[in-house]
Amino acid sequence: MSYIAERMNYIDASGIRKVFALAAKMKNPINLSIGQPDYDVDEVCKDVAINAIKNGFNSYTQTWGIEELREAVQEYYQDKFGVKISNVMITCGVSGGLFLALLATVNPGDEVIFADPYFVMYKHLVNLLGGKPVCVDTYPDFHLTTEKIEPVITNKTKILILNSPSNPTGLTIPKEDLVKIAELAKKYKLLVITDEIYESLLYDEKPSTIAGMYDQVILLNGFSKNAAMTGWRVGYAAGPEDIIQQMNTLQQYTFVCAPSFAQKAAVQALKSDMTQKIEAYRRKRDLIYEGLKDTFEVIKPKGAFYIFPKAPGGDGDEFVKKAIENNILIIPGSVFSDKKTHFRISFAAPDETIKRGVEELNKLAKQFL
Ligand SMILES: Cc1ncc(COP(=O)(O)O)c(C=O)c1O
Repeated sequence: MSYIAERMNYIDASGIRKVFALAAKMKNPINLSIGQPDYDVDEVCKDVAINAIKNGFNSYTQTWGIEELREAVQEYYQDKFGVKISNVMITCGVSGGLFLALLATVNPGDEVIFADPYFVMYKHLVNLLGGKPVCVDTYPDFHLTTEKIEPVITNKTKILILNSPSNPTGLTIPKEDLVKIAELAKKYKLLVITDEIYESLLYDEKPSTIAGMYDQVILLNGFSKNAAMTGWRVGYAAGPEDIIQQMNTLQQYTFVCAPSFAQKAAVQALKSDMTQKIEAYRRKRDLIYEGLKDTFEVIKPKGAFYIFPKAPGGDGDEFVKKAIENNILIIPGSVFSDKKTHFRISFAAPDETIKRGVEELNKLAKQFL
């Protein structure tokens, strides 16, 4: 007899586990696998956090978070996107927000649409809750359009998850497509969950959001990528009052609240100027793209810090295995997709590491040609 709940059978973490098992044997790898920026939390944010702790700001906060941060988040969306978001609650990262949003809305059998390739949590959380993940194949250009979404909508479809810029492709959904997607969502009465965690790392275009284009949108964002606070676990959700209220009830019985000091620091992070970070990451994006484009079939990312090339020979699992044998740590595309043709590189790494990685990957690719 097993004590493990049946629902755990719906989560399959074998893909990423295999990579970690292989990676464990590596000594000092060229590490292009990491899902967090290579910059640290700003000193001024650290000071705010430390002072908050020293001044005794160490208790539970309100379940929905501190007023100061909820208001600062509203102002941020107003200033940056010209969009008035309402019912802001502070969550334990975007992961926390995503979990609460899906827990509050997915019934067994409900269909949840998202683009393939996808951020891993979408598929596993929907499965965990007894929902049905419905992936929209966006290969080879990774462009999510209404033409691709509409055919997979059924009478069981409830939710559409968007992620722009995307993990793992670094591509975005342009504003004109967001407008069409909002119209489609309205037509089919879909709830849209928009994961905007990489919104501030955008290299060629102005940021846009579907929040404000349609009223049934749950917006998720946080401080892990822009402010590098991955371990501080702070993010936020905003959206329809009835859903946010239920998410708040769930938070009361699960996470309770986001870490108090981190909420204070997040207020400061929203004031920080991202210009230099964006410039540095644009340069890294160019470095990796220019370095790979002649050998690999690859699309230039527009945001985030990932690039998703096609594996020479077409088997990403095999290519990553060989890369790891050659001391380069990258992630097979099969972790993020129903296909295994590609692989993910994170360029959130020092320029030197990127340059060495490019050189080694180009050498390795030649063995597959
Ligand atoms: C697309 C996407 N959403 C959400 C998350 C989770 O972020 P957080 O640290 O805020 O939970 C990540 C982290 O890698 C991500 O890539």
